[in-house]
Amino acid sequence: MLSSALTASVLVSPPVWARPSPGRRHIAVAASPPVEQAVRTEDTEPLTKEDLVAYLASGCKPRHDWRIGTEHEKFAFNVETLRPINYGQVCDLLNGVADTFGWQRVFEGNNIIGLKKGLQNISLEAGGQIELSGAPLETLHQTCAEVHSHLYQVKAVGEKMGIGFLGLGFQPKWDLNDIPMMPKARYEIFQNYMPKVGSFGLDVMFRTCTVQANLDFSSEQDMIMKFRASLALQPIAAAIFANSPFKDGKLNGLHSFRSHLYTDMDSDRTGMLPFVFKNSFGFERYVDYALNVPMYFVYRNKKHIDCTGMSFRDFMAGKLPQVPGERPTLTDWEYHLGTIYPEVRLKRYLEMRGVDGGSCNTLCALPAFWVGLLYDDESLCTITDMVADWTDEEREMLRRKVPVSGLHTTFRGGYVRDLAKIVVKLAKEGLQRRGYKEVGFLKEVDEIIRTGVTPAERLANLYKTKWRHNVDPVFHEFAY
Ligand SMILES: *[C@@H]1O[C@H](CO)[C@@H](O)[C@H](O)[C@H]1NC(C)=O
Repeated sequence: MLSSALTASVLVSPPVWARPSPGRRHIAVAASPPVEQAVRTEDTEPLTKEDLVAYLASGCKPRHDWRIGTEHEKFAFNVETLRPINYGQVCDLLNGVADTFGWQRVFEGNNIIGLKKGLQNISLEAGGQIELSGAPLETLHQTCAEVHSHLYQVKAVGEKMGIGFLGLGFQPKWDLNDIPMMPKARYEIFQNYMPKVGSFGLDVMFRTCTVQANLDFSSEQDMIMKFRASLALQPIAAAIFANSPFKDGKLNGLHSFRSHLYTDMDSDRTGMLPFVFKNSFGFERYVDYALNVPMYFVYRNKKHIDCTGMSFRDFMAGKLPQVPGERPTLTDWEYHLGTIYPEVRLKRYLEMRGVDGGSCNTLCALPAFWVGLLYDDESLCTITDMVADWTDEEREMLRRKVPVSGLHTTFRGGYVRDLAKIVVKLAKEGLQRRGYKEVGFLKEVDEIIRTGVTPAERLANLYKTKWRHNVDPVFHEFAY
Protein backbone atom coordinates (compact mmCIF):
# COMPACT_ATOMS: atom_id res chain seq x y z
CA MET A 1 0.00 0.00 0.00
CA LEU A 2 1.35 3.37 -0.95
CA SER A 3 0.80 6.03 1.64
CA SER A 4 -0.95 9.25 0.76
CA ALA A 5 2.30 11.12 1.24
CA LEU A 6 3.75 9.01 -1.51
CA THR A 7 0.94 8.87 -4.04
CA ALA A 8 0.63 12.62 -3.86
CA SER A 9 4.06 12.95 -5.36
CA VAL A 10 3.57 10.71 -8.38
CA LEU A 11 4.87 12.74 -11.27
CA VAL A 12 2.39 13.63 -13.95
CA SER A 13 4.81 14.49 -16.71
CA PRO A 14 7.98 12.50 -17.24
CA PRO A 15 10.80 13.75 -15.05
CA VAL A 16 13.35 15.85 -16.84
CA TRP A 17 15.93 13.06 -17.05
CA ALA A 18 13.46 10.71 -18.71
CA ARG A 19 12.59 13.10 -21.52
CA PRO A 20 14.34 12.40 -24.78
CA SER A 21 17.05 14.92 -25.49
CA PRO A 22 18.50 14.54 -28.95
CA GLY A 23 22.21 14.90 -29.26
CA ARG A 24 22.73 14.73 -25.52
CA ARG A 25 25.93 13.13 -24.34
CA HIS A 26 25.94 9.53 -23.33
CA ILE A 27 26.17 9.63 -19.55
CA ALA A 28 29.32 7.85 -18.51
CA VAL A 29 28.37 5.87 -15.45
CA ALA A 30 31.47 4.96 -13.52
CA ALA A 31 30.32 3.00 -10.50
CA SER A 32 32.45 5.01 -8.16
CA PRO A 33 32.51 7.87 -5.72
CA PRO A 34 34.72 10.84 -6.60
CA VAL A 35 38.11 9.94 -8.00
CA GLU A 36 41.28 11.94 -7.59
CA GLN A 37 41.56 13.12 -11.14
CA ALA A 38 38.81 14.96 -12.90
CA VAL A 39 38.72 13.44 -16.36
CA ARG A 40 37.62 15.71 -19.18
CA THR A 41 35.46 13.77 -21.58
CA GLU A 42 36.21 14.21 -25.27
CA ASP A 43 32.72 15.58 -25.59
CA THR A 44 33.18 19.27 -24.92
CA GLU A 45 29.52 20.18 -25.04
CA PRO A 46 28.82 21.91 -21.70
CA LEU A 47 26.98 19.97 -19.01
CA THR A 48 23.34 20.89 -18.61
CA LYS A 49 21.08 20.51 -15.64
CA GLU A 50 19.49 17.55 -17.41
CA ASP A 51 22.86 15.81 -17.36
CA LEU A 52 23.13 16.36 -13.62
CA VAL A 53 19.65 14.94 -13.08
CA ALA A 54 20.36 11.99 -15.37
CA TYR A 55 23.50 11.29 -13.39
CA LEU A 56 21.48 10.75 -10.20
CA ALA A 57 18.80 8.79 -12.05
CA SER A 58 21.43 6.47 -13.49
CA GLY A 59 21.67 4.99 -9.99
CA CYS A 60 18.30 3.24 -10.36
CA LYS A 61 18.76 -0.55 -10.25
CA PRO A 62 16.42 -3.51 -10.23
CA ARG A 63 16.00 -5.12 -6.83
CA HIS A 64 18.26 -8.06 -7.60
CA ASP A 65 21.14 -5.60 -8.09
CA TRP A 66 20.64 -3.79 -4.78
CA ARG A 67 23.73 -3.85 -2.62
CA ILE A 68 24.84 -2.73 0.81
CA GLY A 69 27.80 -0.40 1.21
CA THR A 70 29.19 0.32 4.66
CA GLU A 71 31.60 3.11 5.54
CA HIS A 72 33.10 3.70 8.93
CA GLU A 73 35.80 5.82 10.55
CA LYS A 74 37.85 5.21 13.67
CA PHE A 75 40.48 6.94 15.78
CA ALA A 76 44.03 5.56 15.67
CA PHE A 77 46.00 6.24 18.84
CA ASN A 78 49.34 5.54 20.47
CA VAL A 79 48.72 2.85 23.03
CA GLU A 80 51.38 4.37 25.34
CA THR A 81 50.22 7.98 25.34
CA LEU A 82 46.67 7.67 23.96
CA ARG A 83 47.55 10.54 21.60
CA PRO A 84 46.38 10.47 17.99
CA ILE A 85 49.00 9.01 15.66
CA ASN A 86 50.93 11.44 13.47
CA TYR A 87 51.19 11.32 9.70
CA GLY A 88 54.50 9.42 9.81
CA GLN A 89 52.78 6.66 11.76
CA VAL A 90 49.83 6.76 9.39
CA CYS A 91 52.29 6.12 6.53
CA ASP A 92 53.85 3.19 8.35
CA LEU A 93 50.44 1.77 9.09
CA LEU A 94 49.22 2.09 5.51
CA ASN A 95 52.46 0.70 4.11
CA GLY A 96 52.28 -2.17 6.57
CA VAL A 97 48.74 -3.05 5.56
CA ALA A 98 49.67 -2.74 1.87
CA ASP A 99 52.68 -5.05 2.20
CA THR A 100 51.16 -7.59 4.55
CA PHE A 101 47.72 -7.90 3.04
CA GLY A 102 48.23 -6.94 -0.60
CA TRP A 103 46.57 -3.55 -0.92
CA GLN A 104 47.47 -0.95 -3.53
CA ARG A 105 48.72 2.45 -2.35
CA VAL A 106 46.88 5.66 -3.23
CA PHE A 107 48.97 8.86 -3.40
CA GLU A 108 48.40 12.59 -3.53
CA GLY A 109 51.63 14.02 -4.86
CA ASN A 110 54.29 12.13 -2.92
CA ASN A 111 52.08 11.44 0.06
CA ILE A 112 50.38 8.15 0.63
CA ILE A 113 46.77 9.01 1.52
CA GLY A 114 44.99 5.68 1.24
CA LEU A 115 44.82 2.13 -0.02
CA LYS A 116 42.59 0.19 -2.30
CA LYS A 117 41.85 -3.43 -2.92
CA GLY A 118 39.12 -4.62 -5.23
CA LEU A 119 36.17 -2.38 -4.53
CA GLN A 120 37.27 -1.46 -1.01
CA ASN A 121 39.06 1.77 -0.15
CA ILE A 122 40.90 2.87 2.96
CA SER A 123 41.23 6.62 3.29
CA LEU A 124 42.16 9.31 5.79
CA GLU A 125 40.01 11.92 7.43
CA ALA A 126 41.46 15.30 8.33
CA GLY A 127 42.68 14.34 11.80
CA GLY A 128 44.01 10.94 10.79
CA GLN A 129 40.81 9.00 11.40
CA ILE A 130 41.07 5.83 9.32
CA GLU A 131 38.11 5.15 7.08
CA LEU A 132 37.04 1.98 5.33
CA SER A 133 34.70 2.42 2.37
CA GLY A 134 33.44 -1.07 1.89
CA ALA A 135 32.54 -2.78 -1.35
CA PRO A 136 28.89 -2.93 -2.40
CA LEU A 137 27.85 -6.35 -1.03
CA GLU A 138 24.76 -8.50 -1.13
CA THR A 139 24.22 -9.61 2.43
CA LEU A 140 24.95 -8.39 5.92
CA HIS A 141 27.01 -11.51 6.50
CA GLN A 142 29.35 -10.18 3.84
CA THR A 143 29.40 -6.60 5.11
CA CYS A 144 30.08 -7.80 8.64
CA ALA A 145 32.82 -10.15 7.43
CA GLU A 146 34.39 -7.24 5.56
CA VAL A 147 34.43 -5.12 8.73
CA HIS A 148 36.00 -7.94 10.72
CA SER A 149 38.62 -8.60 8.09
CA HIS A 150 39.52 -4.91 7.91
CA LEU A 151 39.80 -4.56 11.68
CA TYR A 152 41.90 -7.70 11.82
CA GLN A 153 44.30 -6.24 9.26
CA VAL A 154 44.78 -2.79 10.77
CA LYS A 155 45.09 -4.28 14.24
CA ALA A 156 47.64 -6.86 13.14
CA VAL A 157 49.86 -4.12 11.71
CA GLY A 158 49.02 -1.56 14.40
CA GLU A 159 49.84 -3.90 17.24
CA LYS A 160 53.50 -4.12 16.24
CA MET A 161 53.69 -0.33 16.10
CA GLY A 162 51.94 0.34 19.39
CA ILE A 163 48.84 1.70 17.67
CA GLY A 164 45.29 0.98 18.80
CA PHE A 165 41.91 1.77 17.22
CA LEU A 166 38.82 3.20 18.84
CA GLY A 167 35.30 3.57 17.47
CA LEU A 168 33.46 6.47 19.10
CA GLY A 169 31.48 9.37 17.66
CA PHE A 170 33.76 12.01 19.13
CA GLN A 171 37.38 12.19 20.26
CA PRO A 172 37.06 11.58 24.02
CA LYS A 173 40.27 13.17 25.26
CA TRP A 174 42.25 15.41 22.98
CA ASP A 175 41.82 19.04 22.10
CA LEU A 176 41.67 20.26 18.50
CA ASN A 177 45.26 21.52 18.90
CA ASP A 178 46.45 18.02 19.79
CA ILE A 179 45.19 16.53 16.54
CA PRO A 180 47.63 16.45 13.60
CA MET A 181 46.33 17.50 10.20
CA MET A 182 46.79 14.98 7.41
CA PRO A 183 48.65 16.42 4.38
CA LYS A 184 45.77 16.46 1.92
CA ALA A 185 45.34 19.66 -0.06
CA ARG A 186 41.60 19.83 0.48
CA TYR A 187 41.95 20.06 4.24
CA GLU A 188 43.78 23.37 4.07
CA ILE A 189 40.94 24.71 1.98
CA PHE A 190 38.34 23.37 4.42
CA GLN A 191 40.30 24.67 7.38
CA ASN A 192 40.09 28.21 6.06
CA TYR A 193 36.45 28.01 5.05
CA MET A 194 34.80 26.10 7.90
CA PRO A 195 35.18 28.77 10.59
CA LYS A 196 33.48 31.28 8.29
CA VAL A 197 30.26 29.29 8.00
CA GLY A 198 29.69 27.66 11.39
CA SER A 199 31.10 27.02 14.85
CA PHE A 200 31.91 23.33 14.66
CA GLY A 201 33.25 22.54 11.19
CA LEU A 202 36.79 21.91 12.39
CA ASP A 203 35.58 19.70 15.23
CA VAL A 204 33.58 17.64 12.75
CA MET A 205 36.61 17.29 10.50
CA PHE A 206 39.22 16.50 13.10
CA ARG A 207 37.43 14.94 16.01
CA THR A 208 34.45 12.86 14.83
CA CYS A 209 33.89 9.37 13.49
CA THR A 210 30.78 8.00 11.88
CA VAL A 211 29.39 4.79 10.45
CA GLN A 212 27.09 4.93 7.47
CA ALA A 213 25.19 2.59 5.20
CA ASN A 214 24.71 3.18 1.47
CA LEU A 215 21.65 1.66 -0.16
CA ASP A 216 20.14 1.46 -3.63
CA PHE A 217 16.77 2.33 -5.13
CA SER A 218 14.90 0.98 -8.14
CA SER A 219 13.20 4.11 -9.47
CA GLU A 220 12.64 7.76 -8.72
CA GLN A 221 9.51 6.79 -6.79
CA ASP A 222 11.41 4.24 -4.74
CA MET A 223 14.19 6.78 -4.07
CA ILE A 224 11.61 9.31 -2.82
CA MET A 225 10.01 6.78 -0.51
CA LYS A 226 13.34 5.62 0.93
CA PHE A 227 14.68 9.16 1.25
CA ARG A 228 11.65 10.31 3.25
CA ALA A 229 11.48 7.26 5.50
CA SER A 230 15.18 7.29 6.29
CA LEU A 231 15.45 11.05 6.73
CA ALA A 232 12.57 11.10 9.20
CA LEU A 233 14.11 8.20 11.12
CA GLN A 234 17.69 9.48 11.12
CA PRO A 235 17.28 11.01 14.63
CA ILE A 236 15.84 7.71 15.90
CA ALA A 237 18.93 5.90 14.64
CA ALA A 238 21.13 8.64 16.12
CA ALA A 239 19.48 8.05 19.51
CA ILE A 240 19.85 4.26 19.43
CA PHE A 241 23.50 4.32 18.40
CA ALA A 242 24.48 7.48 20.36
CA ASN A 243 28.12 7.07 21.28
CA SER A 244 29.82 10.40 21.93
CA PRO A 245 29.38 11.43 25.57
CA PHE A 246 32.99 12.62 26.12
CA LYS A 247 34.94 15.71 25.15
CA ASP A 248 38.32 16.95 26.41
CA GLY A 249 38.57 14.15 28.94
CA LYS A 250 35.18 14.78 30.54
CA LEU A 251 31.50 14.09 30.04
CA ASN A 252 30.07 16.63 27.60
CA GLY A 253 26.51 16.20 28.88
CA LEU A 254 25.16 14.98 25.55
CA HIS A 255 24.35 11.58 24.11
CA SER A 256 25.60 12.28 20.61
CA PHE A 257 27.94 15.22 20.65
CA ARG A 258 28.94 14.40 17.06
CA SER A 259 25.37 14.74 15.89
CA HIS A 260 25.03 18.01 17.77
CA LEU A 261 28.09 19.44 15.99
CA TYR A 262 26.43 19.07 12.61
CA THR A 263 23.67 21.45 13.70
CA ASP A 264 26.16 24.36 13.64
CA MET A 265 28.72 23.41 11.06
CA ASP A 266 27.51 24.90 7.79
CA SER A 267 23.77 25.29 7.35
CA ASP A 268 24.10 25.48 3.55
CA ARG A 269 25.11 21.83 3.37
CA THR A 270 23.67 20.05 6.42
CA GLY A 271 20.30 19.29 7.96
CA MET A 272 16.95 17.60 7.52
CA LEU A 273 16.10 18.84 4.00
CA PRO A 274 12.40 19.70 4.39
CA PHE A 275 12.03 19.88 0.58
CA VAL A 276 12.37 16.10 0.42
CA PHE A 277 8.88 15.83 1.93
CA LYS A 278 7.25 18.21 -0.56
CA ASN A 279 5.23 16.89 -3.48
CA SER A 280 7.69 18.42 -5.93
CA PHE A 281 10.56 16.25 -4.67
CA GLY A 282 12.51 14.06 -7.07
CA PHE A 283 15.94 13.84 -8.68
CA GLU A 284 15.51 17.27 -10.26
CA ARG A 285 14.66 18.95 -6.98
CA TYR A 286 17.76 17.45 -5.36
CA VAL A 287 19.86 18.82 -8.20
CA ASP A 288 18.38 22.28 -7.57
CA TYR A 289 19.31 21.93 -3.92
CA ALA A 290 22.84 20.75 -4.68
CA LEU A 291 23.35 23.56 -7.19
CA ASN A 292 22.60 26.03 -4.42
CA VAL A 293 25.21 24.56 -2.09
CA PRO A 294 28.40 26.66 -2.29
CA MET A 295 31.39 24.85 -3.76
CA TYR A 296 34.60 23.85 -1.99
CA PHE A 297 37.19 23.34 -4.71
CA VAL A 298 37.92 22.37 -8.29
CA TYR A 299 40.55 19.75 -9.09
CA ARG A 300 42.58 20.57 -12.21
CA ASN A 301 46.09 19.58 -13.32
CA LYS A 302 46.63 17.67 -10.08
CA LYS A 303 45.86 20.77 -8.03
CA HIS A 304 43.00 21.61 -5.71
CA ILE A 305 41.88 25.13 -6.53
CA ASP A 306 40.09 26.89 -3.69
CA CYS A 307 36.62 27.78 -4.94
CA THR A 308 34.96 27.98 -1.55
CA GLY A 309 31.67 29.80 -1.58
CA MET A 310 31.48 29.78 -5.37
CA SER A 311 28.44 28.65 -7.35
CA PHE A 312 28.36 25.43 -9.36
CA ARG A 313 25.91 27.20 -11.69
CA ASP A 314 28.61 29.77 -12.51
CA PHE A 315 31.02 26.88 -13.03
CA MET A 316 28.58 25.37 -15.52
CA ALA A 317 28.48 28.67 -17.37
CA GLY A 318 32.29 28.73 -17.50
CA LYS A 319 32.31 31.75 -15.22
CA LEU A 320 34.21 30.65 -12.14
CA PRO A 321 36.70 33.46 -11.45
CA GLN A 322 39.29 30.94 -10.18
CA VAL A 323 39.20 28.84 -13.37
CA PRO A 324 37.95 31.16 -16.11
CA GLY A 325 36.52 29.33 -19.10
CA GLU A 326 36.67 25.91 -17.38
CA ARG A 327 33.43 23.98 -17.24
CA PRO A 328 32.59 21.06 -14.98
CA THR A 329 32.63 17.40 -15.90
CA LEU A 330 30.45 14.75 -14.26
CA THR A 331 33.44 13.99 -12.06
CA ASP A 332 33.31 17.56 -10.76
CA TRP A 333 29.60 17.09 -10.11
CA GLU A 334 30.30 13.87 -8.26
CA TYR A 335 32.85 15.72 -6.13
CA HIS A 336 30.41 18.50 -5.43
CA LEU A 337 27.67 16.06 -4.37
CA GLY A 338 30.17 14.57 -1.94
CA THR A 339 30.77 17.94 -0.27
CA ILE A 340 27.17 18.14 0.94
CA TYR A 341 26.50 16.68 4.40
CA PRO A 342 22.78 16.34 5.11
CA GLU A 343 21.50 13.56 7.37
CA VAL A 344 20.67 11.49 4.30
CA ARG A 345 22.62 12.17 1.12
CA LEU A 346 21.70 11.32 -2.43
CA LYS A 347 24.27 10.28 -5.00
CA ARG A 348 23.54 7.34 -7.26
CA TYR A 349 22.53 5.66 -4.04
CA LEU A 350 21.28 6.90 -0.67
CA GLU A 351 23.64 7.40 2.25
CA MET A 352 22.43 7.07 5.85
CA ARG A 353 24.66 9.56 7.66
CA GLY A 354 23.16 10.22 11.08
CA VAL A 355 25.00 7.86 13.38
CA ASP A 356 28.10 7.90 15.61
CA GLY A 357 31.00 5.54 15.01
CA GLY A 358 31.02 2.62 17.39
CA SER A 359 31.96 -0.90 18.34
CA CYS A 360 32.48 -3.74 15.94
CA ASN A 361 28.90 -4.78 16.71
CA THR A 362 27.64 -1.35 15.77
CA LEU A 363 29.47 -1.48 12.45
CA CYS A 364 27.47 -4.62 11.60
CA ALA A 365 24.21 -3.49 13.25
CA LEU A 366 23.89 -0.10 11.57
CA PRO A 367 23.62 -1.44 8.00
CA ALA A 368 21.36 -4.23 9.31
CA PHE A 369 19.02 -1.64 10.79
CA TRP A 370 18.63 0.26 7.51
CA VAL A 371 18.51 -2.81 5.28
CA GLY A 372 15.71 -4.29 7.39
CA LEU A 373 13.74 -1.05 7.10
CA LEU A 374 14.42 0.03 3.54
CA TYR A 375 14.99 -3.17 1.54
CA ASP A 376 11.76 -4.81 2.69
CA ASP A 377 8.56 -3.49 1.10
CA GLU A 378 6.35 -4.18 4.07
CA SER A 379 8.59 -2.48 6.62
CA LEU A 380 9.23 0.43 4.28
CA CYS A 381 5.49 0.96 3.76
CA THR A 382 4.79 0.76 7.47
CA ILE A 383 7.51 3.31 8.20
CA THR A 384 6.27 5.53 5.41
CA ASP A 385 2.79 5.56 6.94
CA MET A 386 4.20 6.05 10.41
CA VAL A 387 6.15 9.19 9.53
CA ALA A 388 3.73 10.56 6.92
CA ASP A 389 2.14 13.11 9.24
CA TRP A 390 5.29 14.21 11.06
CA THR A 391 5.72 17.91 10.44
CA ASP A 392 8.86 19.78 9.42
CA GLU A 393 8.93 21.24 12.92
CA GLU A 394 8.71 17.83 14.56
CA ARG A 395 11.50 16.38 12.45
CA GLU A 396 13.62 19.43 13.18
CA MET A 397 12.82 19.17 16.88
CA LEU A 398 13.93 15.52 16.91
CA ARG A 399 17.06 16.46 15.00
CA ARG A 400 17.97 19.12 17.59
CA LYS A 401 16.94 17.34 20.78
CA VAL A 402 18.06 13.77 20.22
CA PRO A 403 21.78 14.61 20.43
CA VAL A 404 21.05 16.10 23.85
CA SER A 405 18.49 13.67 25.30
CA GLY A 406 18.87 10.50 23.23
CA LEU A 407 16.12 7.93 23.68
CA HIS A 408 14.63 10.07 26.47
CA THR A 409 13.62 12.79 24.02
CA THR A 410 9.85 13.32 24.15
CA PHE A 411 7.70 13.05 21.05
CA ARG A 412 3.90 13.40 20.87
CA GLY A 413 3.35 12.52 24.50
CA GLY A 414 5.72 9.54 24.40
CA TYR A 415 9.46 9.04 24.08
CA VAL A 416 11.86 8.44 21.24
CA ARG A 417 12.51 5.12 22.96
CA ASP A 418 8.91 4.08 22.14
CA LEU A 419 9.48 4.95 18.49
CA ALA A 420 12.80 3.14 18.53
CA LYS A 421 11.11 0.02 19.84
CA ILE A 422 8.64 -0.01 16.94
CA VAL A 423 11.30 0.77 14.37
CA VAL A 424 13.70 -1.93 15.55
CA LYS A 425 10.88 -4.46 15.46
CA LEU A 426 10.17 -3.48 11.86
CA ALA A 427 13.84 -3.72 10.98
CA LYS A 428 14.01 -7.23 12.43
CA GLU A 429 10.86 -8.30 10.59
CA GLY A 430 12.27 -6.86 7.38
CA LEU A 431 15.48 -8.83 7.80
CA GLN A 432 13.50 -11.96 8.60
CA ARG A 433 11.55 -11.65 5.37
CA ARG A 434 14.74 -11.16 3.33
CA GLY A 435 15.50 -14.74 4.24
CA TYR A 436 19.27 -14.49 4.73
CA LYS A 437 19.23 -15.18 8.47
CA GLU A 438 20.44 -11.66 9.23
CA VAL A 439 18.27 -10.84 12.24
CA GLY A 440 21.11 -11.72 14.61
CA PHE A 441 22.98 -8.58 13.57
CA LEU A 442 20.43 -6.56 15.55
CA LYS A 443 21.01 -8.41 18.80
CA GLU A 444 22.95 -5.54 20.37
CA VAL A 445 20.31 -3.07 19.24
CA ASP A 446 17.61 -5.24 20.78
CA GLU A 447 19.46 -5.07 24.05
CA ILE A 448 19.69 -1.26 23.82
CA ILE A 449 15.93 -1.06 23.26
CA ARG A 450 15.15 -3.53 26.02
CA THR A 451 17.31 -1.80 28.64
CA GLY A 452 17.08 1.73 27.30
CA VAL A 453 20.83 2.03 27.80
CA THR A 454 22.61 3.32 24.70
CA PRO A 455 26.36 3.05 24.13
CA ALA A 456 26.69 6.68 25.31
CA GLU A 457 24.91 5.98 28.58
CA ARG A 458 26.91 2.86 29.16
CA LEU A 459 30.13 4.87 28.79
CA ALA A 460 28.84 7.69 30.98
CA ASN A 461 27.96 5.16 33.70
CA LEU A 462 31.41 3.62 33.56
CA TYR A 463 32.99 7.07 33.75
CA LYS A 464 31.02 7.93 36.88
CA THR A 465 31.68 4.61 38.62
CA LYS A 466 34.45 2.20 37.68
CA TRP A 467 36.58 4.78 35.85
CA ARG A 468 36.37 7.41 38.60
CA HIS A 469 35.87 10.39 36.34
CA ASN A 470 38.66 9.49 33.95
CA VAL A 471 38.18 8.78 30.23
CA ASP A 472 41.51 7.03 29.68
CA PRO A 473 40.11 3.52 30.28
CA VAL A 474 37.87 3.92 27.22
CA PHE A 475 40.99 3.60 25.05
CA HIS A 476 41.76 0.23 26.60
CA GLU A 477 38.39 -1.29 27.32
CA PHE A 478 36.71 -0.18 24.11
CA ALA A 479 39.51 -0.35 21.56
CA TYR A 480 38.70 -2.74 18.71
C1 LIG B 1 37.23 3.40 -4.15
O1 LIG B 1 37.88 4.38 -4.94
C2 LIG B 1 37.85 4.14 -6.34
C3 LIG B 1 38.54 5.27 -7.03
O2 LIG B 1 39.81 5.49 -6.51
C4 LIG B 1 36.43 3.97 -6.84
O3 LIG B 1 36.43 3.58 -8.16
C5 LIG B 1 35.66 2.97 -5.97
O4 LIG B 1 34.32 2.91 -6.35
C6 LIG B 1 35.76 3.32 -4.51
N1 LIG B 1 35.04 2.34 -3.73
C7 LIG B 1 34.32 2.64 -2.64
C8 LIG B 1 33.59 1.50 -2.04
O5 LIG B 1 34.24 3.76 -2.17
